[in-house]
Amino acid sequence: MGKINRRCWVEVDGRALRHNFKVMRGLIPRTTQVLAVVKANAYGHGLVATAKEFEAIGTDWLGVANVAEGVALRQAGVKVPIMLLSATLPEEMEDAVRHGLTLILSSYAEARTLDRTAKALGEVVEAHFKIDTGMGRLGCWHTEARAELERIRTLSQVVVRGLCTHFASADDDIGYTKQQWKAIAPFFEENANLLRHAANSPAVTKRYGFQADLVRLGLALYGIPPHSEARALGLRPVLSWKSRVTLLHDVAKGRTVSYGATYRLPRRQRLAVVAMGYGDGYFRLHSNASHLLVRGKRCPIRGRVTMDQISIDVTDVPDCRVGDEVVALGIQGGEEIQARELAMQAQTIPWEILTNIGARVPRFYKHFRST
Ligand SMILES: Cc1ncc(COP(=O)(O)O)c(C=O)c1O
Repeated sequence: MGKINRRCWVEVDGRALRHNFKVMRGLIPRTTQVLAVVKANAYGHGLVATAKEFEAIGTDWLGVANVAEGVALRQAGVKVPIMLLSATLPEEMEDAVRHGLTLILSSYAEARTLDRTAKALGEVVEAHFKIDTGMGRLGCWHTEARAELERIRTLSQVVVRGLCTHFASADDDIGYTKQQWKAIAPFFEENANLLRHAANSPAVTKRYGFQADLVRLGLALYGIPPHSEARALGLRPVLSWKSRVTLLHDVAKGRTVSYGATYRLPRRQRLAVVAMGYGDGYFRLHSNASHLLVRGKRCPIRGRVTMDQISIDVTDVPDCRVGDEVVALGIQGGEEIQARELAMQAQTIPWEILTNIGARVPRFYKHFRST
């Protein structure tokens, strides 16, 4: 895409992705497999390009949220095993089987539907069984899981190849995470022939030692430390979010800016209008709160973030010009805005900042081997 469309865009850095993959691989035993989580448009980085890069780097698995994401990857030529991390609807199962996507089953009822689907297609399918140890979302509650697993094992077309659980608070509650591990450990011991997995990014970076046979990594691979101690790992943000100055004007003291007139100028200021807004996924909660970078300087947002435009104060950037590159997330000069900073200002988590970046924002890939 030419410069003409560079009004609001994302740059995805393949070198940072490879660096993070290496850092995370270094934290787990050699024999432990990696599943790179690429659901939700690869945490905003772009599903197909990002998944293909992980495949080129050597991920053992990819994890998606649903069958549509998995099919898109297969249609793009992705060959590595793909796991469906959410529950699969009965009517989605045929496509899952046809495209070789691995389901995570929580119940005998789900397994029976899969068994029937597989039978109709003349296939035997491999699936993983999830045990709920405290996440309370997917999985069979651990005290009932043995009996449920035995029932599933009676089905002729479904073979259970993996066993997993999911941590609810690996980033901030060691006690709860250990309790969950204690509940899953006997199942893991009894089923050493299965692919056993539990850990996400925070569980690995906290070094609990709960890696088992496979770890499912999202946030850390995208270069965001899942908690403060993980900063020391030197992960590098993969995604930068940029825009441009479209208009400059000097505005007199006492005038107001944007919808709701929530900002009144305490003195004369030079304001720049930037070509991004909540229509691109930049939170309206950043109104009057966050900064954008221009020429390496932090410029405060004035007034409300609107659908397509944001006003910032560039009084302290006298050389600012129309067309200047603006950074909403990433590095410019000596300054940096991280996903965690934006998350704290919008009372959310870095995962939501990244996945909220909208479909109309084009993604550009730098230093990618696969594209
Ligand atoms: C089941 C499952 N495993 C692993 C992950 C990856 O988590 P993280 O991004 O914290 O590494 C997710 C993400 O939400 C998930 O739903």
